[in-house]
Amino acid sequence: MTIDTTEGTWQALDDYFTAGLLTRDADLAAVEEAGLAAGLPPISVSPLQGKLLALLARAAGARRVLEVGTLGGYSAAWMARAITGHLVTFELDPHHAEVARANLDRAGVGDRVDIRVGPAATGLRALLEEGPEPFDFVFIDADKASNAVYLDYAVRLGRPGTVIVVDNVVRQGQVLHGTDDASVGVRHLVDVLAARTDVDATAVQTVGGRGYDGFILAIVR
Ligand code: SAH
Ligand code: DHB
Ligand code: MG
Repeated sequence: MTIDTTEGTWQALDDYFTAGLLTRDADLAAVEEAGLAAGLPPISVSPLQGKLLALLARAAGARRVLEVGTLGGYSAAWMARAITGHLVTFELDPHHAEVARANLDRAGVGDRVDIRVGPAATGLRALLEEGPEPFDFVFIDADKASNAVYLDYAVRLGRPGTVIVVDNVVRQGQVLHGTDDASVGVRHLVDVLAARTDVDATAVQTVGGRGYDGFILAIVR
């Protein structure tokens, strides 16, 4: 038997699993479509990845979710629908945030989502100063150069058992040797995780409609 490892097959299997395992959801599809129509880049998580986030949040019993990197609110919509509590998400670009606001309101989860506009590092510091209830689940998906900074805030805003997911840690394989900011940022995150004794982490490489990529899954001890 021959093994087909081409990208077309990744996409075909993505389509197959999406059709087989996900019920078509008009609200979520509308979030994705409105983002693209507004000119946002096509870099949100895929439907299967969105559902993975939702399932992980549920598995963690998450009530409070923190996200870094909102874009048009697609991943936020998946997570917000999976929880009964509250989601705080950070977005640098006011246009992205405005599109996300409208999208999440239209999807019926607007009352559960707080979108904070500006550089996430500044916003996270301000949030920490508010002394909020701990977050149960964190999705880090913004500028990859700041991954280690965001991880540190995630731990400080979390509690023992908080689940942290970091997106795009493979980037078509570039992360291993790439000298671009994103690749360097991911490798720095791995170094930081290797040195920290208060977080347990693993990495999962993925293929699919978004190409060859992966995520880090971590839990605060
Ligand atoms: N999580 C989204 C995709 C996020 S794309 C989804 O899957 O649907 C990354 C987003 O991070 C972009 O919208 C970008 O504007 C934002 N971003 C980049 N740098 C940032 C920063 N310093 N602070 C907050 N957001 C940032
Ligand atoms: C990029 C960012 C993402 O969050 C993603 O999932 C894919 C690509 C990017 O900046 O290229
Ligand atoms: Mg991403």
